[in-house]
Amino acid sequence: LRVPRRGGDDPVVRSPVDDPDDPRIADFVGLRDRELAGPRVRGRRAVANGMFVAEGDVVVERALRAGYRLRAALVDATRADPLPPGMPADAEVFAASPAVLRRITGLGVHRGMLATFDRRPVAPVDELLADARRVVVLERVSNPTNLGVIIRTAAGLGFDAVLLDPTCTDPLYRRVARVAMGEGYAFSWAWLPRLPGGLDLVRAAGFRLLALTPAARARPLDEVRLAEGERVALLFGAEGPGLSAQTLAAADERVGIAMQGGVDSLNVGVAAGIACWVLGRRS
Ligand SMILES: C[S@@+](CC[C@H](N)C(=O)[O-])C[C@H]1O[C@@H](n2cnc3c(N)ncnc32)[C@H](O)[C@@H]1O
Repeated sequence: LRVPRRGGDDPVVRSPVDDPDDPRIADFVGLRDRELAGPRVRGRRAVANGMFVAEGDVVVERALRAGYRLRAALVDATRADPLPPGMPADAEVFAASPAVLRRITGLGVHRGMLATFDRRPVAPVDELLADARRVVVLERVSNPTNLGVIIRTAAGLGFDAVLLDPTCTDPLYRRVARVAMGEGYAFSWAWLPRLPGGLDLVRAAGFRLLALTPAARARPLDEVRLAEGERVALLFGAEGPGLSAQTLAAADERVGIAMQGGVDSLNVGVAAGIACWVLGRRS
């Protein structure tokens, strides 16, 4: 096995691995099976291990920049590029051939590197809401791609946090972070109790609850007026069922993006993009 020398000013030493059963890389073994089970149980196994997995240079760099503690990284031994900026000089970096990597991770694609990080305690909702003006609230958004799109959108369009009910996917799940390009690591998020009960905390913090729905009787998004300094929570539901009847009933108002051409609804990530742009903070 050829392990490239340090590239450029890359100070991080890479340790060769040629045995998929090497205990030093146990956290990376069988990622596909482990992570397939993840979203349904909110990443229980990964959470139990107190870690999450990041994939690809940009995503790993953003996790480092957000202050998460790196446990170890696994790279393609044929990689000549330096490792991402911010890697601690004493980081545990293992290098394996593409064939061994596939046997270790069960993944054909690993975007140059995988890294494991320690989780941190998730912020209590009331603390997070204390300073917030705009939040997104999600019910049953279990599709990792949609969640990644929504997190990146909220972070980029003037929102302060994303709040998830327990049926949503784990925001630190590898595929969510990959779609969000790691933007969620430095962004605020928290778990809410199951909706609609979880909305009590948001309402108690002074937020106006706007339920986004394609239903005909909803107020058109472009007619919504917000007062100066008003606190607003935008509620979105899952592909398929949308927001539950109970959550719709608990909201202050139903808001819709007018549809044309006989199409009944938008993808939830697209709907969130439009609504966050229209109602996000401009300063
Ligand atoms: C694919 S839609 C769910 C469709 C579902 N049949 C319904 O009636 O809600 C997923 C989520 O995206 C948001 N959404 C999709 N299209 C929308 C629209 N035209 N106006 C407002 N929200 C929309 C809503 O929050 C919805 O719960």
